[in-house]
Amino acid sequence: MQTLDRDRLEQLIRAEEELFHQSHPKSFELYQRARQSLHGGVPMLWMIRWAGSFPVFVREAHGAHFTDVDGHDYIDFCLGDTGAMTGHAPAATVKAVRDQLEKGTTLMLPFEDVIAVGEELQRRFGLPLWQFALTATDANRFVLRMARMITGRPKVLVFNYCYHGSVDETFIILDEEGTPMSRPNNMGPQVDPIYTTKVIEFNDIAALETALSAGDVAAVLAEPVMTNIGIIHPDPGYHEELRKLTRKYGTLLVIDETHTICAGPGGYTAAHGLKPDFLTLGKPIAGGIPASIYGFTREVADRFDQMLVKDDSDVGGIGGTLAGNALSIAAMRATFEQVLTPEFYAKAFDLQDEFTAGVEAVIQEFGLPWIVKRLGNRSEYWFRPTPPKNGGQAAAAVDHELDRYMHLFALNRGILMTPFHNMALISPETTHADVDHHTRVFREAVVSLIG
Ligand SMILES: Cc1ncc(COP(=O)(O)O)c(C=O)c1O
Repeated sequence: MQTLDRDRLEQLIRAEEELFHQSHPKSFELYQRARQSLHGGVPMLWMIRWAGSFPVFVREAHGAHFTDVDGHDYIDFCLGDTGAMTGHAPAATVKAVRDQLEKGTTLMLPFEDVIAVGEELQRRFGLPLWQFALTATDANRFVLRMARMITGRPKVLVFNYCYHGSVDETFIILDEEGTPMSRPNNMGPQVDPIYTTKVIEFNDIAALETALSAGDVAAVLAEPVMTNIGIIHPDPGYHEELRKLTRKYGTLLVIDETHTICAGPGGYTAAHGLKPDFLTLGKPIAGGIPASIYGFTREVADRFDQMLVKDDSDVGGIGGTLAGNALSIAAMRATFEQVLTPEFYAKAFDLQDEFTAGVEAVIQEFGLPWIVKRLGNRSEYWFRPTPPKNGGQAAAAVDHELDRYMHLFALNRGILMTPFHNMALISPETTHADVDHHTRVFREAVVSLIG
């Protein structure tokens, strides 16, 4: 299948849409009702981009499965795009949240639990000082502010096709000529990111040095392995160069572990001995309860403290009344201590070995020009024959129609993949039977494409 029959693909998509519609009458009914009160009929507008022509309404979720209002059971390989990487409703987190709910949720005062979390974060990630927010987006926004403040520099640097949440400075890509431009559909930016941000390709050391050498970059914001345009690993030695060059030019290095926490208990940072100035992380750390963290070095803290005007620290752009609330902290403590353990990762990695081997076997059987990339308990197949080195190469291989078909085919057969990617995340609650079912369905989808 070196070239895809596009007419056939269109027909197949139509047939799957029909099947989806017929088999989800209650979701359709709820969607019609939702449209009367919710913009687009969904809690967030991007949710209309799911593969079906309307979203599946969930009844409940446990472990690696959920059921919908039409009574279908699904294997969840999306797991809230990492927010539910623990598996849904992990028992230890649920218990901690229940207990805390009866003792107060939000006070703007610390509980003792927060110290246990701080100490755990020191052990896991190697950075000495920590703060809390509610989303990874906010954690990233706050550290960029800190970095600009202490360096006195105006710019940040990101990689082409990165994603770090709804952070204004990051919605920038390189066009086909390699010129920075605001990302298409960047909604109402207050400042065009070409004025706030430098963007280069991942794995390009020469471009990094050129960008940093001007001396105006406060921080590089990086996922240690790119995960939001497929999985793109750093070339050997890239992280050493990134660290060396950021130090050489006085730029602070922010490692965003929000997805790469899939690489181990201390994320990619601990697994590969990275030494960032800041580390940010959100999504699964409180078992699905909103919570995020950002950590930094003592040197960063000292520089920041020297400039901080304490009387105005509540209105300086880094804040959040609910940040560090007792419920999030209790959930985080239980999740770190009892759920995201080394045993969790060992089991999930074994299952991901099986998942990846299943997909690779089908790719080989049919000689498809596709690849599978892997990081810890996360894997993703991509419609190109060789691993991309950077975001630009990966983006060039995006095939929205084929993505849509593969997702819808899976959804109609009880499998939820991560939207906007072909990504599967595995929790220890996923079973061997779940993985086998995916391999069978993936093979069936390929057979249907070949005809
Ligand atoms: C690497 C990375 N950082 C940050 C975020 C933002 O997370 P949130 O939407 O929970 O703020 C995301 C979301 O996908 C992400 O992939």
